[in-house]
Amino acid sequence: MALPEPCRLGVLISGSGTNLENIARRIEEGSLPARIAVVISDVEGAYGLVRARRFGLEALFVDPGSFPDRASFDRELIRILEDHRVDLVVLAGYMRLVGPEFVAAFRNRVMNIHPALLPSFPGTSGVADALNYGVKVTGVTVHFVDEGLDTGPIILQEAVPVLPGDDEETLHQRIHEVEYRLYPEAIRYFCEGKLRVDGRRVEILG
Ligand code: GRF
Repeated sequence: MALPEPCRLGVLISGSGTNLENIARRIEEGSLPARIAVVISDVEGAYGLVRARRFGLEALFVDPGSFPDRASFDRELIRILEDHRVDLVVLAGYMRLVGPEFVAAFRNRVMNIHPALLPSFPGTSGVADALNYGVKVTGVTVHFVDEGLDTGPIILQEAVPVLPGDDEETLHQRIHEVEYRLYPEAIRYFCEGKLRVDGRRVEILG
């Protein structure tokens, strides 16, 4: 069943935030029935915070260094996200593993986008790893987040060819173009109540 509108998103970033900006733009244009309730960065200088504020979004830096461990940092994020009544947590270039408490607090309500076709090339250098391996096809994966590193149930995937002469930048650029289509699509399915998780499988209803 679709959530009562608007579907409230909490976006976690660590860097440039072009996916965040793309999602914010789709919402503004009216093609994504959601609203961004809060943006949180674990990196103080993340450019994504600047992008978020340009859209008039609440954008917070939470310093992991001021917490004794990951669990207490995660607890602070959970508190902020719950205060903002977030329905879905969207990881958009968030370079930190979320812990078991976080996953339990938002079970099947945390999404991540990964710049490779999982389960190939998980981790923080998926584009470079695919390129260095010499694959002819890589791609984009949107998945729910579980306790592992890029191991959660897969929602959407799309292939991106590796072209002769590609370097990390040119390949990542083409991967980004696919990400800008796939992430809003997956978020829209969630907000429309169309995603059903059954073990490792995600069914898209309708
Ligand atoms: C994206 O390629 C995403 O797949 C990965 O981190 C990158 C973030 O890019 N998780 P941006 O900050 O949205 O520009």
